[in-house]
Formats: sequence, structure tokens, C-alpha cells
Amino acid sequence: MASTPLTLILLTLTICLRAQAQAQAPAPSPSGSLNLTAILEKGGQYTTLIRLLKETQQLTQIESQLKSNSQGFTLFAPTDNAFMNLKSGALNGLSDDQKVKLILFHVTPKYYSLSDLLTVSNPVRTQATEKEGTWGLNFTGKGQQLNVSTGVVDTPVNNALRQQFPLAVYQVDKVLLPLELFGENQKSPSAPSPKSSKTSPETPTVAAKAGGAPSPSGDQKDTAPPRNLALGLVLAGLAFFCMGVLS
Ligand SMILES: *[C@@H]1O[C@H](CO)[C@@H](O)[C@H](O)[C@H]1NC(C)=O
Ligand SMILES: *[C@@H]1O[C@H](CO)[C@@H](O)[C@H](O)[C@H]1NC(C)=O
Ligand SMILES: *[C@@H]1O[C@H](CO)[C@@H](O)[C@H](O)[C@H]1NC(C)=O
Repeated sequence: MASTPLTLILLTLTICLRAQAQAQAPAPSPSGSLNLTAILEKGGQYTTLIRLLKETQQLTQIESQLKSNSQGFTLFAPTDNAFMNLKSGALNGLSDDQKVKLILFHVTPKYYSLSDLLTVSNPVRTQATEKEGTWGLNFTGKGQQLNVSTGVVDTPVNNALRQQFPLAVYQVDKVLLPLELFGENQKSPSAPSPKSSKTSPETPTVAAKAGGAPSPSGDQKDTAPPRNLALGLVLAGLAFFCMGVLS
């Protein structure tokens, strides 16, 4: 009687592993072919950013450099609202070169998790940085709340659209205006228009998305279910595992 469930488990496991080997064989999916457009499109509110990334050729730049840059990249992705809330003409007033710099300013040549950014030393180099200390981003954390600051804007870093080496993509609700373009000459005070009334009610906190946070699973060992139930659970688990592998 005791041998029956065991046999079942072994059988399931064997079938499962064989199926897994077959399922994985024909899909060697080359790593390093990340589709940034797809990541942003999935976010649903980055059409302006996607357009700018394309216009400035930075989409292909980033995607191709992701294959060779061993440090990875981090992109701060302003929402469509963020662009809409810019002072009118702020973007159109820029030359093509300045637009490229503005986009490069939203990218760091290094992968940072949100928890990395809470403790990073400022200022952080961006792709726009040529001279050390210029075109940098400053990060400040208070508890689990992380802000990015350029000297012109200071805004929370919210949602992680992707947080996995080699590419991190974080939502920002303001366009990161560099001091070098929007600072000294006060012609662009970048005052948000009145309709920018806190348009992100559902943005999760850094803590929720930071990942790697140890789960507070305490000692649950001494509440193990009875044996038959445990076997049932194992079988169910295997079945689910199998379905996952095969799908
Ligand atoms: C990336 O994703 C976009 C949108 O999903 C798609 O149109 C494009 O063809 C993809 N590019 C590659 C290289 O797969
Ligand atoms: C960023 O931080 C550095 C170092 O703390 C500081 O010297 C610099 O003034 C800061 N820049 C901005 C724009 O806040
Ligand atoms: C982040 O920026 C907001 C304004 O955009 C400010 O109210 C908040 O105090 C800042 N938080 C930190 C940790 O600097």
C-alpha cells in the first residue's frame, strides 16, 4: 500500500523530466536579445518615450549594447503624462543633439536594482556624462522611498517595469531635465501644468517591487500536514510542475 504512491511519484517524475528535456531542446532562446520596445509597450504609457528612443536611434543603441556591455543598463522611463506636463515647447525647443543628450541622460551604463539605488554614491553617471560630475543623477532614499534628482526635478522612482540583469527599467512621473540643459538660463522653469494632479494612484511602493526582500516565512516545519495529505500535495505539485514545463 505504501509503495503505490511512491511508484506514482516516480512515474510522474520520470515522465515529467523526459517531457522537460524534450520541451527545452528545441528552444535554445539566445540570451541578450532583449526587446526594449516590447517592455515599454507592455507598460502601456510610454508612447512618447518609445518615439524619442527611435528618433534618436537610442533604441537600437541600447539593444545592441546590451549584448556587449557587461555592466548592463538602467533606464528611467518617463510616462506620457510626464512629457505632457512639460512646459510647452520644452521638448521642441531642443536641437536634435540636445534631444539625444536628454534621452541619454535617462540611461545609466550600469544595471542598478532599486535597492542598489538606495545606497549608491552620488552623482551617478549617465550615458550623457562626458566630464566626470556632469550630467549625473542623484539618488536619495528615505526608508524605502527612493527619489531621483537632477537639480531641476526631484521625483520618486516608482514602478519597476523590469528589474533583472542586464536591464532595469523604472517608471518616473517626470521627465528628468538635466541641469546642463534646463538649469542656469531660467527660460524653462518646467512648472508642471495644473492638471498634473498626482496622476499615479496605483503606483506601488519601492518596497513592494524591490525584490530580493527576504520573505518573513517563519518556522512552519512543526505544522506539517499528515502524511497522506502530504503525498497528495506532492502529487498535485508534480502535476502542476509538469503542466508548467509543458505549456
Ligand atoms: C520588439 O517588440 C515590438 C513590439 O512588441 C515588435 O514590433 C518588434 O518587432 C520586436 N522587435 C524584435 C527585434 O523582436
Ligand atoms: C548630487 O550629489 C553630489 C554629491 O552629494 C553633490 O555634490 C551635487 O551637488 C548633487 N547634485 C545635484 C544636482 O543635486
Ligand atoms: C521625493 O520628492 C518628492 C517631491 O517630488 C518630495 O515630496 C519627497 O519628500 C522626496 N522624498 C525624498 C526621499 O527625497
